[in-house]
Amino acid sequence: MSTRMILSVAFALFVVLGMLVYIINDNSRADTTNVNSTQASALLGAELFGPNCSQCHGPKGEGAIGPALNRSDWHAGDPKYDENSVTTFIRNAVRRGQYSPQPGIAMPAWSKDYGGPLNNEEIEDVITFITHGNWEEPLTYTAAPNYLADIPANDVLKKQYPSTTAEVLAIKNPQKYGADAPTSDQKTLLAADAKVEDAAKGAVYQEAEKNKEALRKVLGNRDPGNPAEHLTGLKQLIQTKGCMNCHALGSAGTTLGPNLTEVGSRRSSQWMYDWIKDPSAVAASNRGPNVQPWFKTENRTDFWPMQPTFMPTIKMTDQERQTIVDYLTGLKSAAVAAPQPQATQQDATK
Ligand code: HEC
Ligand code: HEC
Repeated sequence: MSTRMILSVAFALFVVLGMLVYIINDNSRADTTNVNSTQASALLGAELFGPNCSQCHGPKGEGAIGPALNRSDWHAGDPKYDENSVTTFIRNAVRRGQYSPQPGIAMPAWSKDYGGPLNNEEIEDVITFITHGNWEEPLTYTAAPNYLADIPANDVLKKQYPSTTAEVLAIKNPQKYGADAPTSDQKTLLAADAKVEDAAKGAVYQEAEKNKEALRKVLGNRDPGNPAEHLTGLKQLIQTKGCMNCHALGSAGTTLGPNLTEVGSRRSSQWMYDWIKDPSAVAASNRGPNVQPWFKTENRTDFWPMQPTFMPTIKMTDQERQTIVDYLTGLKSAAVAAPQPQATQQDATK
């Protein structure tokens, strides 16, 4: 073999080796790109999960109104995880929504194809998040409903729950004491009559005391006669019943359900009482246009026999419900700015 031949074989070998090295390198680079894009997609998914899904499935996917989604067999790496069947199942449920046997509860349709708010890419990101993501992530993107923000006060409260003798008297004798527009004479008369009742601890006094005690309990042992305490108690009641997970009141709360800041101007007290008691019992025709649009266009009645609503039936006592309804009834005009829907990075980049 000539030196020349040896050299050219060596050169060929060198080139082949170089190519091999390049290919191997490139492959692992492709792998990292894949990993990176999965991570990026999962992050975008977490960002969407926080404001859109956590109200019902829990911020950590632990389940609340809807079932737990943080199942290990739905997570890549688990021996039972079957990528194809898991992602297909989740995709179907999320795109189209899902009927629930629980009365008055449904999984909303999320795909734009079914009248929902998310495009396919966003839905794939959410799926990647559920199957590959870190369940601590959505918490970062779940704006804690701003409970500390002022929910609007309203004067109607006192009339609905007369907790002083004068208030009870005024409601019982609107003619005598001038109802909403009393003259100064009528005010003086009312104060004098209330004093007499109190001194005698008569029936009106007893009634006011009973109202006050009952209401004090509902308000978490706060004084119903003190407007600031009354409002704090109400705020806590509405918060513990979970209303603010889905609704806005003034600048507090979230945007999944309708904004309730002016709800008293469009709903009667009785309607709200019935609705909150059991949303699914209120006929669809007697509700807002909240039925999923695709359901309407397809004119289906078979698939959602419960008349779907995303508002759950929330357990509480009649008086708690009445207290919330009385408050909502008095909300007739928006005094404070509403919270803004959650903007995502995706929205910003598109
Ligand atoms: C208004 C409440 C609500 C919201 C918001 C909501 N879901 Fe659901 N979801 C439900 C309910 C209720 C079910 C169960 C339906 C049933 O009983 O089969 C469900 C079911 C599911 C299922 C099927 C689970 C199973 O085991 O059957 C998936 C997956 C799911 N939701 C994902 C999501 C994702 C992702 C989002 C956000 C984009 C979301 N959900 C937002 C209420 C909700
Ligand atoms: C899981 C989310 C969710 C929770 C929690 C929730 N709601 Fe709702 N609510 C909704 C949705 C969605 C609607 C829109 C109606 C529908 O779904 O058909 C609604 C509608 C309403 C309406 C009618 C508003 C209108 O303009 O017609 C009132 C009043 C109301 N809710 C009060 C409450 C109160 C009070 C609570 C707490 C005790 C509460 N909601 C808890 C989701 C929720």
